[in-house]
Amino acid sequence: MRKKIICVVGTRPEAIKMAPLINSLKNEDWVECKVLATAQHREMLDQVLGLFDICPDIDLNIMRPNQSLVELTSRLLVEVDRVLSQEAPDAVIAQGDTTTVMTVALACFYRGIPFGHVEAGLRTWDMRNPFPEEMNRVIAGRIATWHFAPTESSRGNLLKEGVPEREIVLTGNTVIDALLDVVTRCDHLVPNIPQGRRLILVTSHRRENFGEPFEEICRAIRTLVENNSDVEVLYPVHPNPNVKETAHRMLSGLDRVTLTDPLDYLPFVAAMRGAYLILSDSGGVQEEAPALGKPVLVLRRETERPEAVDAGVVKLVGPDHARIVEEAQRLLDDASAYQAMARGVSPYGDGKASQRIVKVLREYFA
Ligand code: UD1
Ligand code: UDP
Repeated sequence: MRKKIICVVGTRPEAIKMAPLINSLKNEDWVECKVLATAQHREMLDQVLGLFDICPDIDLNIMRPNQSLVELTSRLLVEVDRVLSQEAPDAVIAQGDTTTVMTVALACFYRGIPFGHVEAGLRTWDMRNPFPEEMNRVIAGRIATWHFAPTESSRGNLLKEGVPEREIVLTGNTVIDALLDVVTRCDHLVPNIPQGRRLILVTSHRRENFGEPFEEICRAIRTLVENNSDVEVLYPVHPNPNVKETAHRMLSGLDRVTLTDPLDYLPFVAAMRGAYLILSDSGGVQEEAPALGKPVLVLRRETERPEAVDAGVVKLVGPDHARIVEEAQRLLDDASAYQAMARGVSPYGDGKASQRIVKVLREYFA
């Protein structure tokens, strides 16, 4: 009898990182792969699902404007449990560290359904950084039956927490599967930067940066543009009201600063390719940019992705005006410092992560 696996997606990055796995599972004849969209994100989730031709079988339409964590968590838990009860899947798979993932793992635990965790084992070891993601992934990790660890270091973190070795599979990160799929399709979308100009691409959305830290980030962007007449900034603003209000209040109307709505994945990858430098607090961008040979200054105090930092192609600068300006200016002025960070390395995967995950599931259910 065919097995039933439910793949869950809630937010934009989950959809990007689950899409290659969903599409691989849909090609397997031993399994019925159903897609559950919690729609913790709405427009941003739909942008990605459309690109990868994924149509959710079940859509919980959870998102509300400026949703609080308590409201989100409680509604998700009730709704996800209702789906598990109706569908009775043989396994559930989810990716990462969002509230969707934490609640799905918990709902699986309550019903005794095996839970597979994609991108398992990332840790900063600081529960408040990133908040609430570090706690979300620790909880998901305590519950998981299969831990699909993207790197040796994430595998090591799980071993340190006492996860049995046989439950951990080193897969690489599925984000590289997705990136390699789209990167050849976006040549025509790479922004046309006027001769002599350099593009700085910015993204920001972390909850621990709301308020003063985010204002520091915006002030640093302003200083960089004022001090460098050849610099243009492209900033697709995350729709979270806490981000949107500050970004528009502090940066709109500035010369050579473009604020846009979130870009579809294809034009965003093209923008990364066209960028000279990226300033971001995003997890996914820290993984993709090194593979595209683009330096990233990370607008956070900690990262759970040490591999690219160790390789010297990503640098932590924090949400700190002086550091952001100093490090970005160095990369604008010093060609050899720039080249050292623009080498193009891919510590997060080889594009075959989904294949490895499917193989584990196939063998388990055989
Ligand atoms: C969420 C995740 C974070 C992940 C990020 C990726 C949690 C707690 N946070 O943060 O881990 O890194 O997604 O982007 O799981 N909104 C829209 N349209 C959208 C998406 C969001 O309007 O398509 C607005 C809504 O007002 C929503 C708010 O953004 O209430 C916050 O969304 P939420 O998913 O709670 O948090 P994010 O900051 O997006
Ligand atoms: N991304 C996108 N459009 C944008 C900004 C980002 O498609 O305007 C992609 C990016 O390439 C990466 C993912 O979204 O794959 C990262 O999402 P986000 O930063 O929201 O979440 P995180 O990775 O920090 O959880």
